[in-house]
Amino acid sequence: MRIDIISCVPATFSGLIDQSILKRAGEKGLAEIHIHDLRDYAINKHNQIDDYAFGGGAGMVLMIEPIDKCIAKLKSERDYDEVIYMSPDGKTLSQGISNELSLKKNLILLCGHYKGVDERVREHLVTREISIGDYVLTGGELAAAVVADSVIRLLPGVMNDETSALTDSFQDDLIAPPVYTRPAEYKDWKVPEVLTSGHQAKIEAWRFDQQVERTKAKRPDLLNRSGSED
Ligand code: ADE
Repeated sequence: MRIDIISCVPATFSGLIDQSILKRAGEKGLAEIHIHDLRDYAINKHNQIDDYAFGGGAGMVLMIEPIDKCIAKLKSERDYDEVIYMSPDGKTLSQGISNELSLKKNLILLCGHYKGVDERVREHLVTREISIGDYVLTGGELAAAVVADSVIRLLPGVMNDETSALTDSFQDDLIAPPVYTRPAEYKDWKVPEVLTSGHQAKIEAWRFDQQVERTKAKRPDLLNRSGSED
């Protein structure tokens, strides 16, 4: 899988992407992330990429031309499945969306800034809009990194333990069961006995019970989901 991220503050990604799971996925040849500086597509020698909003109002708007040129260049090099605009008013990211995107081959993630992008970018160049939650960030960069991480970790071979992505919270609309490691007793806090019993069927049944109980207690909204909002 290849993800191209278009940003006017590309430095945000250094350390985010060249570390962590994304680095490992790159080294294994499973995923590539390429960051593109929107200023490389500026319309004039002043490196201009934004301008005042028609009709007035505070805040600058990212211009359509640099974005169009950057996307056109990428599209001339390969086909893309999606051009995704990171925006607080997009569809909220869910495990279902990440699962779906993990099946794609090439994605473009466009990061907005300031007051956003010229609306014609959204009308003509973008195939979907994703938000990472109902709050406003200074730009789409952190949101794009969240999407890239949540998608790339699902690719077969990226995680060391192949099954662990499937047992994540939200994968089946249940949150994950609690996990423990050695020592089995610390101070007088004990690990649930079933986990050290060696009885695998009982352990699985206990884990499932815990998932249901914890979901009821912490995220009852997940139990009423039809799955249709993915
Ligand atoms: N850009 C600014 N805020 C954002 C959010 N919450 N999600 C995605 N992109 C954003």
